[in-house]
Amino acid sequence: MRYGYFDNDRREYVVTRPDTPLPWINYLGSEAYFGIISNTAGGYSFYRDARLRRLTRYRYNNAPLDLGGRYIYLRDDESGEFWSPSWQPTQRDLDAYSCRHGLGYSTIASGFRGIRAETCYFVPLGENLEIWRVRVTNERPAPANLSLFSSVEFCLWEALEDNTNFQRNYSIGQVEIEDGVIYHKSEYRERRNHFAYFACSEPLAGFDTQRDAFLGPYRGWDRPIVVERGKATDSEAHGWQPMGSHHVRLALAAGETREVVFVLGYSENPKDRKFDPPGSQRIDKRTVKPVIAKYLDSAVVAAAFQSLRDYWTDLLGTLQVETGNEHVDRMVNIWNAYQCMVTFNMSRSASLFESGIGRGMGFRDSNQDLLGFVHMIPARARERILDIAATQLPTGGAYHQYQPLTKRGNNEVGSGFNDDPAWLVLGVAAYVKETGDEGILDEPVPYDNAPGSERPLYEHLQRSLRYTLDRLGPHGLPLIGRADWNDCLNLNCFSDTPGESFQTTENKAGGVAESVFIGGLFVLAAQEMKALALRRGDETEAGLCHDSAAVMADVVETAGWDGAWFRRAYDFFGKVVGSSENEEGQIFIEPQGMCILAGIGLDNGLAAKALASVRERLATPHGIVLQQPAYTYYHRELGEISTYPQGYKENAGIFCHTNPWLMIAEAMAGNGDGALDYYMRINPSAREEISDIHRCEPYVYAQMIAGKDAPTHGEAKNSWLTGTAAWNFVAISQWILGIRPEHDGLRIDPCVPAEWGDFKVTRRFRGATYLITVRKPVGATGRVANLLVDGRAVAGNVAQLPTKPGQVIDVEAHYR
Ligand code: BGC
Ligand code: NOJ
Repeated sequence: MRYGYFDNDRREYVVTRPDTPLPWINYLGSEAYFGIISNTAGGYSFYRDARLRRLTRYRYNNAPLDLGGRYIYLRDDESGEFWSPSWQPTQRDLDAYSCRHGLGYSTIASGFRGIRAETCYFVPLGENLEIWRVRVTNERPAPANLSLFSSVEFCLWEALEDNTNFQRNYSIGQVEIEDGVIYHKSEYRERRNHFAYFACSEPLAGFDTQRDAFLGPYRGWDRPIVVERGKATDSEAHGWQPMGSHHVRLALAAGETREVVFVLGYSENPKDRKFDPPGSQRIDKRTVKPVIAKYLDSAVVAAAFQSLRDYWTDLLGTLQVETGNEHVDRMVNIWNAYQCMVTFNMSRSASLFESGIGRGMGFRDSNQDLLGFVHMIPARARERILDIAATQLPTGGAYHQYQPLTKRGNNEVGSGFNDDPAWLVLGVAAYVKETGDEGILDEPVPYDNAPGSERPLYEHLQRSLRYTLDRLGPHGLPLIGRADWNDCLNLNCFSDTPGESFQTTENKAGGVAESVFIGGLFVLAAQEMKALALRRGDETEAGLCHDSAAVMADVVETAGWDGAWFRRAYDFFGKVVGSSENEEGQIFIEPQGMCILAGIGLDNGLAAKALASVRERLATPHGIVLQQPAYTYYHRELGEISTYPQGYKENAGIFCHTNPWLMIAEAMAGNGDGALDYYMRINPSAREEISDIHRCEPYVYAQMIAGKDAPTHGEAKNSWLTGTAAWNFVAISQWILGIRPEHDGLRIDPCVPAEWGDFKVTRRFRGATYLITVRKPVGATGRVANLLVDGRAVAGNVAQLPTKPGQVIDVEAHYR
C-alpha cells in the first residue's frame, strides 16, 4: 500500500494523505539555519546546533507522535469554523490534501469548504531564516471573510535545559513586538547576543506571544481559544511559554487568491552593540530590519525559491544516470544524493528519531558521510575534514563526537572507539580522489583543537594508522576499545547497573578484546594511505603501509577466519565471537563486508565462501540482517548488542548501513546480479508499495529494518540520519554502476545484472563533464575491458583526467 507517489520531474515525493504510518519528514536549510518538517507541518528549527541553539519547540515522543510545528490556522469568520490547512493540529477532515516534499522545501496544500490553502516552507540560500509562503484561494462562488493565524512556540535556546529546568524557564521568557514583528529575546539581557524574529507581510489584526493566552488554559494546539474566538489578544510574554502568532484578516472575493508571507529567522548582534539605544534593554534591530523587509516581498521570495531549485539542479548534475531501472535512477539522481547532503549537515543530530539533544557530530559518522557528499560540494567536504581532524587526539585517537556549534570534541560519549581514527583516512582519501587537491595533506591542523599543536593533516593520517598498530591484541588483531563500528559490541564493558551507558563505561580497562572488523578496516585504510604516500614520494610511509597491511591481512585470514566466514571478534576472555563455536551470534555481517572491501580473500576463495555464507544465513527479502542467530538473552560479556530484543537494531536487525558493504563485495567478486539484488531489497523507492509494512519514508534509507527474528519483520526505523545514505550511494554509483573517482582518472567498472543492456551516466569530475555510455550486451557478465574516449581507443577502464577546464569528454565503455 502507498501513501503517495514520486514526481520525478519536479523531484518531489507527493504524500497524498496526512495520516502516514509515521510522520514523513523533510529538511529545510542547507548551511547554518536548519529545520525538520513533517508532512503535516510538524517540526522545529535551529541555528547550526540542534541542541545548543534551538529556535522553536517540538515534543518528541508525544501523542500524537508529531507535535509542535509551523502551524497555520484558518477560520471562516462567518461560520466560526476553523481548521489547519496542514491537517495537524486540528485534524479536521480536509476535502483535499497533499504534501510535496522537495529538495530543501515542503509544500502542503489542502482544501476545506471551498477554501484552498497552499503553504511553501523553505530556507533561502545564504540566509538564517525560513519563509512560509501561504497562498489562500477562495474557490467559493461568494466572497469569504477569513482569519489566518500563524503559530510557533519558541524554545529557550538550549534544548535540554528547555525540556528540564522549569523552575528557571518559567521566569525567563522575554519578547519584544515592534511594527508587527515578534522578537524572541529570552536571555538576550545577559550573555546571549542572538534573538529570533517572526514577521508577517500583511497588516495585523493582532498578535499573541504568550502560549496560555493563545491556547487558553487547559487547551491544546487543536483548539486554541484565540482561533475559536477569532480574535488575537495582543498578549506579551513575561516568563512562561513565549510564542509567536500573527492574526491576519482576509476578505477574499470569489476566485481571489492572496499571498501572505511569514518570515521566521535568527539573528546575532556584536556583543558591544546589542541594544538600541545603548543603555536601553531594546534589541538593536538595525541589521535585521532590512533582512526582514527584503523577505516580506513576494517577488524576492519567488526568486529565492527559484534559486534554491536551481542550486539543487546544479548539485545533482554532478551525477545523473539513465539505467532503465526506475528505482536506481530515482535514488541516484535525486533522493540518495539529497539524503547524503542531509546526513552531511546533520550527522546524527536531528530527525524524528534523533532528538537533537543526544548526539553531536560523530567522528566516525561524519567521515563516512563525506563519502556520499564529496562530489557535490568538495569545498565544504574540505572544511569538514579539517574540522574533524582538529578534534583528533595526539594519540591518534578521537573523541567519538564533537559539537557543531563549537567544533570542539565533547566527552559525552567519550573516546576509545578504536575504529574511529581509520575512518579519517578513508574520508580524506575520498576527498583527494574526487578533487586531486593533495594540498589538503599539508594543511596545518591542531590536535584536540589546542593552539600550537598544529601538524600537517598528513601526519594526522599517519597517527590514525599508528593508533591501530600501537594497540594490537594477543592474536595480532586490533584491540576493540570501547567498541568498533558496532557501537553495541562492548566487549570491555560488563554492565549490571540499569541505565549505565554501554558507550562510556569501560569497566574492564586493559582488556584484550580484539576486532576482526577493525583488522579489515585497517587494511583498507592502509592501502589508501599507501597510495597517498606514493603520490608524495614518501616511500617509507608507503612501505610501512604496505607491510603492515600485508601482515594484518594474514592475521585476518588466520585468526580471523572461521572456516566458512570471517569471525567477528575475540572477547575480554579471548573467546571467539561470530564463530560456529558460538551458540548465538555465529556469523556477523560487518567483517564479511569490510574484509572483502579491503580485498582480503578475493584471490584465495575465502571471500567467495564468506559471500555464500551471508546469502545462506543472513539474507532476507527485506535486506541482510546483522548477525545470526540473534541473541535471545543478555550476554553481559558482549554488551549493548544483546540488550535489544531479537531482530531489532544491532541484535540481528537489518542494519542497513552494512548492506552496501556486501553489495560492494559482490561487485568486487564479479556478481552483478547479487549486488543489485541486495541493493533492491533495501532501496526505499522499491519498497514504496509496501509502505504499510516499511512505514518510514519511501524516499530515504532508514538505519534499520526489523530482521527476521522480529515480529515486525520488514518495518523500518530511524530513517534519514544514517551511514546507509553515503554507503548505498557509493555502492550503487561507484561499484554497481562502477563510476569511480580515482587519483589518476575516472574508472568505469560496472558490475551490473546480466539482463541489463546499455546505460548512460553523466559525471562531472575534476572540472570536466564525462558523458559515458556503457555498451553492454544483454546477458554479458564480464567487465568493461576498453574505452573509446573522444573516439580514441584506450585499453583498460580508466578515463584519463581532463586537460583543460570545462572539457566535455565522451566515453564509450565496451565489455570484453
Ligand atoms: C544504538 C547504536 C548507536 C549508539 C550511539 C545505541 O543505542 O543501538 O546504533 O550507534 O547507541 O550512541
Ligand atoms: C549508529 C551510529 O551512528 C554509527 O556510528 C554506528 O556505526 C552504528 N550505529 C552501529 O552501531
